[in-house]
Amino acid sequence: MKRWLVPAAFAACLLPLAWLVVRFLRDDLGANPIAEVLNRLGLDAFVLLVLTLACTPAQILFKVNWPIRIRKLLGDFCFFYACLHLLTYAGLDQGLAFGEIGRDIVKRPFITLGVTTWVLLLPLAVTSTQGWQRRLGYRRWKGLHRLVYLAGVLACVHFLWRFKTALFEPLLWSGVVALLLGIRIVSRLRLQSR
Ligand code: HEM
Repeated sequence: MKRWLVPAAFAACLLPLAWLVVRFLRDDLGANPIAEVLNRLGLDAFVLLVLTLACTPAQILFKVNWPIRIRKLLGDFCFFYACLHLLTYAGLDQGLAFGEIGRDIVKRPFITLGVTTWVLLLPLAVTSTQGWQRRLGYRRWKGLHRLVYLAGVLACVHFLWRFKTALFEPLLWSGVVALLLGIRIVSRLRLQSR
């Protein structure tokens, strides 16, 4: 397997952040820089979640193993961007007003969904190492990591809810997630029926 695959994927995952920094330095973040950074980081986390979900279907459909080699990296970067998204919301958007943030989480289902998605991603990021796989045992570890599908669905609803009217982009992404989940379900059913 190509030795450059993981370093290349690592560098590619850093590009969205580097581009955001360049835009910040060029004062090119538009009229509402905080909203722009918040939404960009949310979208980056979402795209990386979709790419993570796409690794196994890609292996099934195209009989290639290289996506599995970068799956952990993609998942870790998804969580990294989700943390930056959360920090931007809590720190820059809400000014660390924890009372307000708590009220937002309880009162706005859109925020509740974002936080729930992040909470689901947290144990996956923590236990993504081989050490944790050994400690939990493969079956339990795999069971836990199935939460990534739920996280994918909740992230879609979070994305859809954010737009309310201009739904084309989030609907398209939700279609991609539904397709990826569909491929997993069909392949599992076929395996069971053998
Ligand atoms: C950690 C808890 C989270 C909070 C508090 C949160 C909050 C927010 C907020 C306030 C916005 C901007 C809404 C607006 O401008 O009207 C947003 C947008 C978004 N968030 Fe989150 N979010 C969270 C987690 C996540 C996670 C885990 C993902 C995906 C994995 C995600 C994906 C998105 C996407 C895709 C957008 C819209 C981006 C765009 O407009 O291009 N969020 N989120």
